[in-house]
Amino acid sequence: MATPEYTPFVFLLLLFQSSVWGFPVCQTPQESPTCGYKSCHATKPGMLNVHLVPHTHDDVGWLKTVDQYFYGDRNDIQHAGVQYILDSVVDQLLKNPDRRFIYVETAFFYRWWKQQTDDMQNTVKQLVNEGRLEFVNGGWCMSDEATTHYSAVIDQMTMGLRFLNDTFGHCGRPRVAWHIDPFGHAREHASMFAQMGYDGFFFGRLDYQDRNRRMVAREQEMLWRASESLTPPMADLFTGILPNGYNPPEGFCWDQSCDDPPIRDDPDLEDYNVDDVVTRFLHIAHGQALVYKTNHIIMTMGSDFQYENANLWYKNLDKLIRYVNQMQSNGSEVNVLYSTPSCYLQELHRANLTWPLKGDDFFPYADSAHDFWTGYFTSRPALKRYERISNSYLQTCKQLEVLGGPISRKGPFGAGDSETLKKAMAVAQHHDAVSGTEKQHVANDYARKLANGWAHCQVPTIYISLLSVSMFLCQFSVNVYNPLARPVSWPVRLPVNGTAYRISDAKGKAVDSQVVPVSQATAAVRRGRGYAVNELLFQVQAPPLGYSTYSVSLLQNGPPSPQSSPLPRAPKAVQNKFLRVTFDPETGLLSSLSNLETQQTVKLSQNFYWYNASDGNNSESIQMSGAYIFRPNTSTPFIISKTAKIETLQNSVVQEVRQWFSPWVSQVVRLYTDSRALELEWTVGPVPIGDDLGKEVISRLDSSINSSGVFYTDSNGREVLQRRKDYRPTWNLRQSEPIAGNYYPINSRAYIKDDKDQLTVVTDRSQGGGSIQDGSLEIMLHRRLLYDDVRGVGEPLNETSDIYPEGLVVRGRHLLSLSPPATAADTHRPLAQEVVLQPLITFTDGELHPSTRLEFSGLQAVLPPAVHLLTVSQWDQDTVLLRLEHQYQASESKEHSQPVTVNLQKLFSTLDVLGVSEMNLSANQWKDEMTRLDWKKPLPKRGGDPSVWEVSLKPMEIRTFLLRVRQR
Ligand SMILES: *[C@@H]1O[C@H](CO)[C@@H](O)[C@H](O)[C@H]1NC(C)=O
Ligand SMILES: *[C@@H]1O[C@H](CO)[C@@H](O)[C@H](O)[C@H]1NC(C)=O
Ligand SMILES: *[C@@H]1O[C@H](CO)[C@@H](O)[C@H](O)[C@H]1NC(C)=O
Ligand SMILES: [Zn+2]
Repeated sequence: MATPEYTPFVFLLLLFQSSVWGFPVCQTPQESPTCGYKSCHATKPGMLNVHLVPHTHDDVGWLKTVDQYFYGDRNDIQHAGVQYILDSVVDQLLKNPDRRFIYVETAFFYRWWKQQTDDMQNTVKQLVNEGRLEFVNGGWCMSDEATTHYSAVIDQMTMGLRFLNDTFGHCGRPRVAWHIDPFGHAREHASMFAQMGYDGFFFGRLDYQDRNRRMVAREQEMLWRASESLTPPMADLFTGILPNGYNPPEGFCWDQSCDDPPIRDDPDLEDYNVDDVVTRFLHIAHGQALVYKTNHIIMTMGSDFQYENANLWYKNLDKLIRYVNQMQSNGSEVNVLYSTPSCYLQELHRANLTWPLKGDDFFPYADSAHDFWTGYFTSRPALKRYERISNSYLQTCKQLEVLGGPISRKGPFGAGDSETLKKAMAVAQHHDAVSGTEKQHVANDYARKLANGWAHCQVPTIYISLLSVSMFLCQFSVNVYNPLARPVSWPVRLPVNGTAYRISDAKGKAVDSQVVPVSQATAAVRRGRGYAVNELLFQVQAPPLGYSTYSVSLLQNGPPSPQSSPLPRAPKAVQNKFLRVTFDPETGLLSSLSNLETQQTVKLSQNFYWYNASDGNNSESIQMSGAYIFRPNTSTPFIISKTAKIETLQNSVVQEVRQWFSPWVSQVVRLYTDSRALELEWTVGPVPIGDDLGKEVISRLDSSINSSGVFYTDSNGREVLQRRKDYRPTWNLRQSEPIAGNYYPINSRAYIKDDKDQLTVVTDRSQGGGSIQDGSLEIMLHRRLLYDDVRGVGEPLNETSDIYPEGLVVRGRHLLSLSPPATAADTHRPLAQEVVLQPLITFTDGELHPSTRLEFSGLQAVLPPAVHLLTVSQWDQDTVLLRLEHQYQASESKEHSQPVTVNLQKLFSTLDVLGVSEMNLSANQWKDEMTRLDWKKPLPKRGGDPSVWEVSLKPMEIRTFLLRVRQR
């Protein structure tokens, strides 16, 4: 809690301590480094060159927690210890300078590095400088692509790549992005990787039909044009599909965890097998060459947590190379070499071919006809929401470290900075973290790490306040901090026991408020924790990148007045000045939605259903629904209830229709007085399983919109892609799962439209969804399953907790807007930003000191509506990392899809900007030093900015700057 001596501003600033990166400074290498493309082994032009890539795939948490994996703890769950892998690999690399190894996950490498002696660190630097140990990807983790938000992905990449640059200089900069395991691939990830300066991208998993076609057509390597808005080649990324997932070819796994025969090369012994090994290898190599375009092929020699005893692998690989290449003297035209993905990429580039272009993405991913990996789009909905609000909180925490200046480093609250939350968020982006595909104890660990990160940003204050202060006090103030670069208006809802309050804003003006009884659904969710009987509702406004303080005093105690209680019936309509919704009096369901400004109306109903999860007992396939896979037993979902019991609450702040469908499904349809969006707050759980049926619960909107089999989903919260039912843009789909095969990740929004109307749903977390019938949009909310889906996690997705032993209850919001298609983005872009970066509300008890500054903005002026302030983060003592983003797509909005200009010197109100340098998206390269391999597409000439301070942004462009600043 704040002490009265501090004004809210100082108080907020003191909450957050600035961080200084404590990584060791890189020593100048003794000799001039020959890393990168220069360090590649020579290849033989007339031969088939086989690039052997020794690698390990180290999940940043999955069956074990990230720390258990690092130390090799709990080997009873899975034998895996990353510290031993790095020890052993370094040792083996030193034994033969030809050997190569790539390392991917900086979360692990960083842990290992901290524990090494100076001598060992220098040895490793030498290996890196000589290209013998090469970093690929290099983010803190290998992020999930379906359920992550771009802002958190950029942050985790920035953190990992910064560590590599700080530690190894330019030889530590990965040239290749490497997502060998994620379960489908997002176009926005490819766009980000291109803007981060990667020359190429390799992955392992794509739809089996797509792969088969690409093998035949030799189109497993392509140029991905990953943005419809950014000028090529800005978001162009060379993309390659690996031949065997990320595993070695069959019969050639020489890890201690494998059973393949070693190379027995003593001709005096009976079991000599060199001829056999060489023959088998040549056969595989020739077969692989048939499905790729050049005389270079790649083989991934490694797999999950391999190389713990690297001697086994390297000893056999040394021999394989020797014996296969010896055959060249007998006329063999196969040349095997130690290589890395970037060395392989260099050869593809030298081949100077024209590669096929790819414009859509790689979702959904199916590895067989009934095995669509579309369940994880929704798995663990509570963790997905916690991850999303943790990102919001982290961005605020980082902003306050900057705005607070040096004073924020001397707070009274002891330790505290954003570093812990940054790391927790980075780990949570892993493809078995926010994806929901980890074991339960690992999910708990991710949540615990996030909570610890919040604590370091001092957030418990907020919760403690929420539960105690506002309920108990007669006088308190509410501080609303807005992390967006434009003013926001936000509804506040506080648990209280009083029945009337007086609220005044920062200027002393009275604010309208209402006290309403806590709904039964909310009381039930609390499970006996929290006793407030009422909720205090009012609307707050906060300036850009700043706060506003409201003071609240209790006027009256006792039970709420009867007028404040809900009425037990459906209203005919609910409306404010923007929207009108009607309800069917018979069923209590929504029946229409109108936009009063544009005078458009659509028929719209909404209800909840569940799919019966397949238990594997099925004539077509034994595949069950599980953490990864969605496989309903039938294509017709069960309705939970055809009618809803209704209560209506209408007052000057909000109008609510509370719908009760069953003991485990309820919803509030809510319209705030000055909102352009209709809020559907759903509450689902505990999902009953007493009938031994796994359930996948959806909310489905059915409208009169003529959507013609098409709907739209965002990619990682940024650009939107069109989805067509039973169709893939790049191959002729044979649809085998009519529901699961039409599901796509919805990260922040989805919409359906026709010529006149666009209905957009903004979500508060990542979810899966589809449009199975015209005019319909369904979104999966919660999943409770009884079987494991045999993709490794080894547990059914059946979440319970101490507070919810009978099954997790999840609550969330969908925000609906209706607009003409040409102006829809003008509503859903800002709306989604408000959900992603929501205001931070803190409390102070008692009266504020009269000299307290009640309102503050860190900006000199509101930024243009098209500009999003993506990053404001302290970098070093005197530097701040700034990312400005144009948040509209090209031709998405008549008004906003235009270039805009921002003046960096006129940005902040508390900082003088003394200098500026532009960087790549991941901030590990200066923009003017950024050269990428050019895949036969000329780089556009940079126009040169009118002045260094005037920064122009085109649609969907993100520009990253390092500002040298001085506190005013
Ligand atoms: C690449 O191919 C083009 C023809 O498509 C040719 O004009 C060019 O010289 C080639 N470049 C190299 C480096 O071989
Ligand atoms: C609020 O009211 C509830 C119900 O009357 C009661 O149990 C609780 O103790 C009250 N809290 C306070 C702080 O008065
Ligand atoms: C990378 O690190 C080197 C020092 O090792 C530093 O000189 C350089 O400025 C860093 N690059 C970026 C983009 O921060
Ligand atoms: Zn993995």
